[in-house]
Amino acid sequence: MYVCICNAITDKEIRQAVCQGSKCLNSLQKKLPVGTECGSCSCLAKQLIADTLDELENSRNNQVA
Ligand code: FES
Repeated sequence: MYVCICNAITDKEIRQAVCQGSKCLNSLQKKLPVGTECGSCSCLAKQLIADTLDELENSRNNQVA
């Protein structure tokens, strides 16, 4: 699904960037230009970052347990 229409950036691309170390919108924007035009996708991008970080944390916890 497209998250950023202005720059044609998908949720998969954002999740992949978070898995590669982008933990906030500023950091993400160094890899992808999400939210750099109209800005209307910024809230959804931040939510995706938070959700992906939660999923990564849960996955790590399940591997330890
Ligand atoms: S939809 Fe992302 S900057 Fe416009």
